[in-house]
Amino acid sequence: MTIFSASSTAPVNIATLKYWGKRDKLLNLPTNSSISVTLSQNDLRTLTTASCSADFDSDKLWLNGKLESLESVRSQACLADLRGLREKVEAKDESLPKLSQYKLHIVSENNFPTAAGLASSAAGFAALVSAIAKLYKLPEDMSELSKIARKGSGSACRSLFGGFVAWEMGDLENGEDSKAVEVAPLSHWPTMKAAILVVSDDKKDTPSTSGMQQTVATSDLFQHRITEVVPKRFEEMKKAILAKDFEKFAELTMKDSNSFHAVCLDSYPPIFYLNDTSKQVIKLIHRLNEQEGKTIAAYTFDAGPNAVIYYDEINEKKVLGLIYNYFSQVAGWEKYSKDVSTLDKIE
Ligand code: PMV
Repeated sequence: MTIFSASSTAPVNIATLKYWGKRDKLLNLPTNSSISVTLSQNDLRTLTTASCSADFDSDKLWLNGKLESLESVRSQACLADLRGLREKVEAKDESLPKLSQYKLHIVSENNFPTAAGLASSAAGFAALVSAIAKLYKLPEDMSELSKIARKGSGSACRSLFGGFVAWEMGDLENGEDSKAVEVAPLSHWPTMKAAILVVSDDKKDTPSTSGMQQTVATSDLFQHRITEVVPKRFEEMKKAILAKDFEKFAELTMKDSNSFHAVCLDSYPPIFYLNDTSKQVIKLIHRLNEQEGKTIAAYTFDAGPNAVIYYDEINEKKVLGLIYNYFSQVAGWEKYSKDVSTLDKIE
């Protein structure tokens, strides 16, 4: 049996300007542009191996060792697009094996809890698309591939790039201009760090697709957010990233997280993603920034209670030390305790 295979990894990306709302559910076209930071390959990531063979009799996916369905419209849309592009490659060179006609076996593994508000579907679809694109030796660039990943999960389009990434919403009905582009590589701002506080690794309450639908249909505040607030922030945040202006970047990030959770609360019935621990983290970060007299840390929360804290490496001990003082009884802190035990306490 001849098996062709290729592997790829895609890290999680954490939005600093949130995507929330679809104007086309099937194509995953957003109601606003968004910006994110893709974590490094060493942090949270999905590793995917895609194989195909004339001897496989159906498409299959194993996620973290468990057989999962590939039947969803989203997965099917990604596979159909990738096979279509492979057909074009095969049409140009008759000698190539007809991989587009073979069934695929996909093995994927996350090194973090799935569906806990940690953007697992983003890394998952990005790794799937990039592994199959590699297997098929597709000539398309990352922005082109991002349009395919977008059909799997909107935010997945941003995980195809490292570093600071914008998802331009586009305005075409067919979504051809709704794609991810690089704002700056991670090397542009290597001292930017993200700490992820896993407040809970339970599966999230309201999945993002139904949550977005509820918000778009019922929140009055939402219209203000997508027409007035986000377009301005989109430009300001790109500028702050290019200028490595942490204070501005941090302010915009926190405000946008709050704005996103505000439209969730303004949905009817309301959607709650933050819990009491999340709110304590918010207060703590504001207290820290006040005490410092400048903004040295920013929080952001996706569709779940887990916090992501952005800070500059230079302030690592201050930021992690503070969090340690408050949450040291929580599992997972042992490895930091050595570094932070000598830090100032905030009362
Ligand atoms: O791509 P989805 O459908 O998982 O939605 C992601 C939504 C947020 O994580 C809350 C925001 C974002 O831009 O990633």
